[in-house]
Amino acid sequence: MAATIIDGKAFAATVREKVAGHVARLEADHGITPGLAVVLVGEDPASQVYVRSKGKMTREVGMKSVEHKLPATVEQQALLELIDRLNNDPEIHGILVQLPLPDHLDEQRVVNSVSPAKDVDGFHISNVGLLGTGQKSMVPCTPLGCLMMLREQHGDLSGMNAVVIGRSNIVGKPMAQLLLGDSCTVTIAHSRTRDLPDVVRRADIVVAAVGRPEMVPGDWIKEGATVIDVGINRIEVGEKTKLVGDVDFESASQRAGAITPVPGGVGPMTIACLLANTVTACCRANG
Ligand code: GUN
Repeated sequence: MAATIIDGKAFAATVREKVAGHVARLEADHGITPGLAVVLVGEDPASQVYVRSKGKMTREVGMKSVEHKLPATVEQQALLELIDRLNNDPEIHGILVQLPLPDHLDEQRVVNSVSPAKDVDGFHISNVGLLGTGQKSMVPCTPLGCLMMLREQHGDLSGMNAVVIGRSNIVGKPMAQLLLGDSCTVTIAHSRTRDLPDVVRRADIVVAAVGRPEMVPGDWIKEGATVIDVGINRIEVGEKTKLVGDVDFESASQRAGAITPVPGGVGPMTIACLLANTVTACCRANG
């Protein structure tokens, strides 16, 4: 049986519609416009594309979008001062510093300089700790989008075997925390995991977030499992470049019960969740 294709693009559009409704009510009832500031350091082409797309969608749902572009050579102190100004700006409710940062900057220090209440990425150590202890926090956008798709697909995830492949702070670790919060039995697999194919074959839910093109072949997937592919990898096919995930979609979709495509799966949900987090931050800031 061919898998159900989970349409992240369509789902993200419904999330953005809800966000737009919320933004309109905040404006009409309280005269408040949620504001999102995105900070981009350097000229990384992929980051530039993401930042442009975030700005466009922020404006489309009626929120204020501010972009700060800094040269790759910016000194850490100047970046920290900008973040401090944004932390104290009452018109800004969410702050996102696009990662990765150039090597001379201390990424952890920069991330932790964002006010936890405005940390719409959920990367500040306070938010990481709150999520890890099951308390109300800002939740990282990509894992949040994945969780929303899984809940939409299954309703209750309780008792399911979930395998997260990848242990990054941005996706793998928070994804595992969210699945645990929904009472899944969670395994985090990574580059040193022994017998990875067997680990993946036991999973009812597979979340692949390693950044290696098509590394998960279809025969690792349990019949009927749900596969969430976080990878966005650019590969050369002849003269052209093509976007592929971390999962071999062709073969995996023959065995999975449901699977996200690349592109059009997790990617659009990430931005929709960023907008939703900004509204949440705005509502919390205004009681
Ligand atoms: N770079 C890749 N993914 C992300 C993300 O979710 N947030 C930020 N700030 N940078 C990223």
